[in-house]
Amino acid sequence: MALVTFTQRLEDLKESANADFQKATTQALVEEARVKYLGAKNGLLKEVQKELGKISKEEKPLAGKALNETKQALQKALDEAESQIRSGVTAAGDQPLFDPTLPGTSYTLGHIHPITQTISELSDIMGRLGFSVVGGPEVEDEDHNFNALNIPQEHPARDPLDNFYLSFAQETNKTPMLLRSQTSTVQIRVMEKTKPPIRIVSLGRVYRPDTADATHYPMFHQMEGLYVDEKVTMADLKTVMHLFAKSYLGEGVKVRFRPSFFPFTEPSVETDFYWNGKWVEYGGAGMVDPNVFRAVGYDPEEVTGFAFGLGVERLCMRRHNVTDIRDLYQNDVQFLRQF
Ligand code: DAH
Repeated sequence: MALVTFTQRLEDLKESANADFQKATTQALVEEARVKYLGAKNGLLKEVQKELGKISKEEKPLAGKALNETKQALQKALDEAESQIRSGVTAAGDQPLFDPTLPGTSYTLGHIHPITQTISELSDIMGRLGFSVVGGPEVEDEDHNFNALNIPQEHPARDPLDNFYLSFAQETNKTPMLLRSQTSTVQIRVMEKTKPPIRIVSLGRVYRPDTADATHYPMFHQMEGLYVDEKVTMADLKTVMHLFAKSYLGEGVKVRFRPSFFPFTEPSVETDFYWNGKWVEYGGAGMVDPNVFRAVGYDPEEVTGFAFGLGVERLCMRRHNVTDIRDLYQNDVQFLRQF
């Protein structure tokens, strides 16, 4: 074979390889072109190389040199195609496939709502004080929400305007049902099923048809506590309240009881905690009324107990300096993200 024919074939090969590598805009196309031209077994360059034997001895060095140059040119075209893919620029028109300098898509993790965080923290604290956490239904009958709690028929707490009574129960003539207005219902449910001693807390939603303002919301949360055993006294109640307040708000907390009245406790108190220079009322408490014990089949001569009900939102708001309860329920991520 004449040297010119050989070098012409190399030229043709280089031309078509350059064209193919330039068109190769994906890794797969580049690989296809690589195998086609530079493949070790059946690559087109290999085919031409086989013709080297047919070149005369004198012309062979020149032919070999031309072959090497072509091989280097092909390798260069391959390298360029690959680096263009890596940089996201196609040879065709500098159109970026992707811009590796742009920040990536970051994943934002959701997180736990402040009220849910508060509930688990309060449960932890009470757990360490020996109270186990129990739940109860949010749709209640009037037995658990009122009757067994010693709330008389004519008591204003039963007023339809102050409760979410459920119309289906009225219509089907069953016992009146409502969205529970207090977690004290859980005291009854637990005592009905369990013999003393009892040491429980229950944290959950309660409902009252209040107009929402900075301190009211038609749904909020309470932490109910109940301790029943022999010889439980008001001193135990104050100790537990103090240990709780100290754990949740911090050292320097003071606890104050003010005389009050609840149908299910006797005596009854309002419970205030002093923290950061201010007295704030967090809920009610007292010694379980003998009538409540009788309603669940306990003998008030044998056991005594204390109960308390604290506002979860109020605890959370005071601790985190939130001044409007509605902020907790607006689902404004800007606000919630802070917790
Ligand atoms: N259930 C009362 C309320 O919602 C709070 C309360 C007061 C709960 C005294 C108690 C208690 O367990 O002993 O206003």
